[in-house]
Amino acid sequence: MTQLDLSPLAGALGATVRGLDLGAELSSETIAAIRAAFVEHHVLVFRDQELSPEQQMSFGRRFGELDTHPFVEGNAEYPEVIDVVTEPDDVFNFGGGWHTDVTFLEEPDLGSILYAVDVPQGGGDTLFSNQHAAYDALSETMKEMLDGLVGIHSAGPQYADGGSSTFHKSMKTKEADLASAFVAHPVVRTHPESGEKALYVNGAFTVSIAGLHGDESAHLLRFLIRQATKEIFTCRVQWEPGTLVMWDNRSVQHYALYDYAGQRRHMRRVTVKGDRPT
Ligand code: SIN
Repeated sequence: MTQLDLSPLAGALGATVRGLDLGAELSSETIAAIRAAFVEHHVLVFRDQELSPEQQMSFGRRFGELDTHPFVEGNAEYPEVIDVVTEPDDVFNFGGGWHTDVTFLEEPDLGSILYAVDVPQGGGDTLFSNQHAAYDALSETMKEMLDGLVGIHSAGPQYADGGSSTFHKSMKTKEADLASAFVAHPVVRTHPESGEKALYVNGAFTVSIAGLHGDESAHLLRFLIRQATKEIFTCRVQWEPGTLVMWDNRSVQHYALYDYAGQRRHMRRVTVKGDRPT
């Protein structure tokens, strides 16, 4: 297999990949090597890329079919592309809390591919947390207790009327009335490629744990969400224009920091469709 030039980003997860032009026609061997590194490191960072939306979409399609977001308006020309934009007069940014993308879908996205177009002078980093490490660090007794539990997910807290994201000025939402549906996923999922177990609850979309009383569910969720995002399990990406990051939504949560008030940030996101978590 093609050898990639990889260096780790942090102890817990993440790697920088050097020496590839993602806008070029990459061989199947190179794509296979990227996919293997993606499954192993969960977050891959590629610097100094120059990608048009078409090139970013073509790269994404090498990993599967692209998705369109059910509630966020895509780019007018390329519906599979979301322009993640924060304007200087916005008061928060998209993705500004720990979450896994679109777990309110029956088949949440496999991964997301984010490209930096315009970044603040300082700030606007994205944090990632390794959900395999968060699971592995639990006691055997807690693991046994979680086995078989089911989390209930909904887009409601973020996208239903009155939800916290719907009034974001720089990005438009759509079909928000569909956001209140509920979807069930295992609290611990098994990665379909590596076979490793990962915690699969998040503070943005997991609203309860099935079969528990309200206060039991709230307490357990609070504990698990804290476990999932402990500093020791994280890495941090500092963006430059032309940085592309791809992350495995089956393995990580992420958090787009909003610490750059008064500045502009423009990222381009495409997502690759995934399967039903088991
Ligand atoms: C997202 O949650 O997909 C946005 C991440 C970011 O803008 O850094």
